[in-house]
Amino acid sequence: MARLPDNPLVSSQRRNRRTTEVRRGFRRITRSWDEFWAEFWHIRLKGNDPACMMKNQQVVTFCRVILKLQKGEHLLDLGCGAGFQSLLFAELGLKVLGIDISPPLIEHARRLAAKRKVSASFQVGDMRTIAFERAFDAIVILGCSYGFGNDAENQQTLANIARALRPGGRLLLTGQHAYAASNHIGPEWLETTEGILLHRGEFEPTTSRLNGIWELVRPDGMIVVEGENPEKHGIRCYTVPELHRMFAEVGLEAVGFYGTWLLPPTPLQWFSAELIATARKNRR
Ligand SMILES: C[S@@+](CC[C@H](N)C(=O)[O-])C[C@H]1O[C@@H](n2cnc3c(N)ncnc32)[C@H](O)[C@@H]1O
Repeated sequence: MARLPDNPLVSSQRRNRRTTEVRRGFRRITRSWDEFWAEFWHIRLKGNDPACMMKNQQVVTFCRVILKLQKGEHLLDLGCGAGFQSLLFAELGLKVLGIDISPPLIEHARRLAAKRKVSASFQVGDMRTIAFERAFDAIVILGCSYGFGNDAENQQTLANIARALRPGGRLLLTGQHAYAASNHIGPEWLETTEGILLHRGEFEPTTSRLNGIWELVRPDGMIVVEGENPEKHGIRCYTVPELHRMFAEVGLEAVGFYGTWLLPPTPLQWFSAELIATARKNRR
């Protein structure tokens, strides 16, 4: 391929072309959820952010302590994303299966596992339809990933989890906290390596759903928006009494509710942004 001359005029022409595009007005392009959220946000931005990686470590330590995870136990990481936490669990000696609905995230998780020489399995799958029988000692749903479905689907997810756990098996799930949804409302601008990212949170009180809208304003004047996605109806924010009832319906007993990943654990407060719930499957 012919190499462009290393000439300042070329780059200044390029700069002018960009400026003209911006002056003509912003243009919007739609990217699929896998490209926009999974590849751009989760893999490229979060995957390269040291603060996110530190939080993952904190989350995994919290789960190990609170769920009393032991080496050799089987752990299912549902909605595992790119496997950042699954791999940390595997490094603790757990036998980990990570499941996520997004194929590029699962591909990335497999690549990361191979690169770090960590033994963990990953599958593309949907938590609403998984069908394991007494296969896991513990199951986690991290990153506020419980509640994307409608109420019937979310209840079905809990039924699938109860079936997949061995008697006495432990669950830790995270969701958005209904009383603290206002923490996520309103515009938030983030400067990223690929442009300015605008996040707008909206909460619908009649359905208790929190929805996030993302737009990336690129330096070339393009506004990138998300297309169809599995999270387009937002996330259902449950209260503790609702979760108690939903757990009981499938033979899970609520154990604790926490509001941060700090140890020793801190109880859930009305203002806690994240809701961390633990439960145990009945021994029968
Ligand atoms: C907020 S991310 C959290 C990812 C990861 N657990 C973390 O904490 O970094 C939510 C994840 O749930 C996945 N997801 C959404 N709906 C799902 C479903 N029905 N079944 C499996 N995964 C799902 C998404 O693809 C996404 O990776």
